[in-house]
Amino acid sequence: MIYAQIMAGGIGSRMGHTERPKQFLTLAEKPIIIHTLEKFSLIPDFEKIIVSIHPKWVQYAKDLIVNTIKDPRIVVIEGGAERNDTVMKAIQYISENCETTDEDVLVMHDAVRPFVTRRIIMDNITKSKDYAAVDTVIPATDTIVQAKDGVITNIPVRDEMYQGQTPQTINILAFSKFYEQMSEEQRQTLSDSAKVMLLAGYKVGIVQGEESNIKITRPYDLHISDIIARENLNVQ
Ligand code: CTP
Repeated sequence: MIYAQIMAGGIGSRMGHTERPKQFLTLAEKPIIIHTLEKFSLIPDFEKIIVSIHPKWVQYAKDLIVNTIKDPRIVVIEGGAERNDTVMKAIQYISENCETTDEDVLVMHDAVRPFVTRRIIMDNITKSKDYAAVDTVIPATDTIVQAKDGVITNIPVRDEMYQGQTPQTINILAFSKFYEQMSEEQRQTLSDSAKVMLLAGYKVGIVQGEESNIKITRPYDLHISDIIARENLNVQ
């Protein structure tokens, strides 16, 4: 089975003071999380679409989604303190509520990347048949510089550098088996699921992302995204 997870367990501290976490702010009058969910809801391959929400906002999210999208596959659950906890809570939900197999995969996507395309999601699903983990990336356009204590330590060859986006896709069994044996420190520091799978010894396949698949992190991103969302409405 193929499951989707919309990651919305954070509070968006880098967005500054807002009345709601950033995933509930609006782009072209529609909450960001609804833009994102609509993309996933259009894909019939998913058995369930699990929406992971910060505990304080679960009821708010349920009311919002129920009143906006009619898709019986959508379930709203609590996220966790760290990103990996949010992933594991979705895996726990699946194991307790669905029939599971060794081949089950989870396609995880940031709620705050509303411009994800159908092509990117489908490429993740297709690649997950060949790899235990898949990451969505775009080639680095700027030179990537590694630095520590105020001085450059390395300038890697740009052609081999990419920037990570989401979705990220994992084989559920492989991820959870390795997660169980990770130390508490590893769980806190290894916030990237692809990195967890690399550490577990798996090859991680890559899917070409899009420049437009931006993550709304700061007020500037919100401003740009609102313009893009309005333009998209005009061409539709
Ligand atoms: N996320 C999550 N569970 C967490 C932390 C983050 O599901 N424990 C989600 C966020 O809600 C967001 C996505 O992961 O949709 C990408 O993370 P990020 O942009 O870092 O979101 P926040 O943690 O909310 O932002 P900040 O770091 O500014 O507080």
